[in-house]
Amino acid sequence: MIRIIDLKKNFDDFWVSNGVSLQIPEGKMTVIVGRSGTGKSVLLKQMIGLIQPTSGQILVHNTDITKIQGALLTDALQQFGYVFQFAALLDSLNILENIGITLLEKQTPLTKVLPIVKEKLALVNLNEDILYKYPSELSGGMRKRVGLARTMITNPKIILYDEPTTGLDPITTKIIHELMADMQKNLHLTSVVISHDLEIFKYADYIALLDEGQIQFFGPAASIWEANNPYIYQFIRGLPNGPIKTEGGQLKCQTKKHIKI
Ligand SMILES: Nc1ncnc2c1ncn2[C@@H]1O[C@H](COP(=O)(O)OP(=O)(O)OP(=O)(O)O)[C@@H](O)[C@H]1O
Ligand SMILES: [Mg+2]
Repeated sequence: MIRIIDLKKNFDDFWVSNGVSLQIPEGKMTVIVGRSGTGKSVLLKQMIGLIQPTSGQILVHNTDITKIQGALLTDALQQFGYVFQFAALLDSLNILENIGITLLEKQTPLTKVLPIVKEKLALVNLNEDILYKYPSELSGGMRKRVGLARTMITNPKIILYDEPTTGLDPITTKIIHELMADMQKNLHLTSVVISHDLEIFKYADYIALLDEGQIQFFGPAASIWEANNPYIYQFIRGLPNGPIKTEGGQLKCQTKKHIKI
């Protein structure tokens, strides 16, 4: 459904994406992992046109969204929902306005927006009594769910999550993951999740690992702990001096060159 082909992006002389190729299966959850600063957020932003790649293709239903502009691009991006790395709610707006912002900006009357916002609140298991509260009055977990409800307002078919559970306790993290998995199955969504939280693997269909500007591993989540690709082997076990690939394909201890913090 989404095919990323040889995507490259540089900021001056720094190549953050250096030939990223990845196929994201439709109706499934694909989790992208990788160390801090490897370009995961930049990749997601390229997928929704927030950052223009230097070269390469991003095919969504066979349309290369890097080559279109204006109304065509807006139309193509309608299918996407984006959950920001930090919930990114607007502090001066109440929850109703935050969730309904895209509709309110298009001058949709509040009487029409209200039932839609209530429907999305129910979708993320939040109670209507928070509608007139402000973000500062909510817990971190609630804010994340409000962010999710806001993303769902336009009924996207593809949802991109940038670290949806950062800063949450393990129980709230699990609740958010279950919510993401339930929504994905019930609404037949395609989900792409960037996460450092290995607990998400339980709900994922596929795992991709980004390192050195490229996808170094892609495989089914169900057998991830058996995978012997050195990048994923090392990452999921958190081994700072763990194995890397040698020319002969064997596992080898990591060199300093690979330790970037
Ligand atoms: N607009 C920009 N201009 C210049 N450099 C940028 C820009 N956006 C990102 N970068 C650089 O690109 C690199 C990758 O950033 P990115 O935010 O994608 O990392 P990440 O993998 O999401 O990390 P984290 O796990 O910490 O969120 C970083 O070195 C960052 O400084
Ligand atoms: Mg990031």
